Amino acid sequence: MRTDRGDLPVKSPSSTSPGPPKNTDAFPALASAASHQPQRNRKGEKNWNPVRSLCQCLPLLIKGEVAVRAPHASQVSLSTPVARRAVRGGQRARTATVPYGRERGRRKREEERAGCEMAATGLGVKAAPFTYAAHALAAAAAVLVLVWCVHFRGGLALEAQNKNLIFNVHPVLMLIGYIILGSEAIMIYKVFPKLNHDTAKLTHLILHAIATVLGAFGIYCAFKFHNDSGIANLYSLHSWLGIGTISLYGIQWVFGFVTFFFPGAAPSVRRSALPWHALFGLFVYVLALATAELGFLEKLTFLESGGLDKYGAEAFLVNFTALVVVLFGASVVVAAVAPVHDEAPQGYESIPVS
Ligand code: HEM
Ligand code: HEM
Repeated sequence: MRTDRGDLPVKSPSSTSPGPPKNTDAFPALASAASHQPQRNRKGEKNWNPVRSLCQCLPLLIKGEVAVRAPHASQVSLSTPVARRAVRGGQRARTATVPYGRERGRRKREEERAGCEMAATGLGVKAAPFTYAAHALAAAAAVLVLVWCVHFRGGLALEAQNKNLIFNVHPVLMLIGYIILGSEAIMIYKVFPKLNHDTAKLTHLILHAIATVLGAFGIYCAFKFHNDSGIANLYSLHSWLGIGTISLYGIQWVFGFVTFFFPGAAPSVRRSALPWHALFGLFVYVLALATAELGFLEKLTFLESGGLDKYGAEAFLVNFTALVVVLFGASVVVAAVAPVHDEAPQGYESIPVS
């Protein structure tokens, strides 16, 4: 089976050798990420992975500690005091039992699990719970937006005397058709980790294609509402971001299709394109979430300046829906960056525990 990760030294959890780890060079990723040098895999080939590098450094800097240890501080040019402290901690821990205070047991357990896969190391969470949360929040968001547009705003229509009904199709399609379907496409590798990779890829690309088409149709409905009501087009930040988002989404899809599906790039190209694909995909996804938030804000502001009670049930419902969408998006992003398993899955040995 062709792998999109190319010849990266991927090690399945089951292939992790038992006993004390032999690898003393467990941290090229951290070292190179921190010093902005290209990562090298075990064969010494350049193999810089922006998502992994970014995510390795972020938890380190945020938590003020490092769960992976560099063999020699001199190999790591870390510029912040927090990071230097963390590396010193790592060196001590290689040679002696370090008293961690009250949290010693918990940290030790964490370190046992630590590998160089960013999420397994830095976040210490698995994807599964976040996919469950995302599904529940997606269902809630879908129900809320339908209640708003159907119950409070009078329903949905593609042709109607009341042009507001045409507008109502816009938020419904943008949220349920575009954002929720796009999220499911992103999470597919984590929701069905045992699915055959080619099937998962096909589902990923089909769901993204449906999301893009429904999103484009939702935007068409907003334009139709404007044109039928004699309102100017593309005057707001929301609309500019909206056009930008759907265009980038389309570009991402075409690049993804050509690189990973048909005709499919050479393994080395796929290998280097994959982290950029995931990074750019998440960027476009977050942009879509931000655009939707602006849309809710804008519509509610229009309604409130038209007399809607600022503390009424409808205003509360719209704000609450937007909040649920934020939580939903956060769960999807964590599910995407967290690993399926919490073992070190990227071919690095686990940390020696003294
Ligand atoms: C990612 C999701 C979304 C995208 C890509 C998007 C995109 C767009 C675009 C391109 C327009 C311009 C139409 C025109 O100028 O004729 C527009 C209009 C509008 N959208 Fe959205 N939209 C999204 C979600 C939402 C949501 C969830 C709402 C909530 C109600 C909303 C509310 C509005 C409103 C009120 C307008 C008319 C005012 C304006 O042009 O800014 N949008 N949207
Ligand atoms: C707008 C469309 C797309 C977006 C936003 C997108 C986004 C993403 C994201 C965020 C990931 C990382 C998921 C994770 O790590 O769990 C990913 C992985 C991937 N995507 Fe896409 N994608 C898109 C289209 C495509 C297309 C058309 C293909 C063609 C087959 C494709 C192939 C892949 C592959 C092979 C992976 C790697 C899965 C793995 O970890 O093995 N994507 N995509």
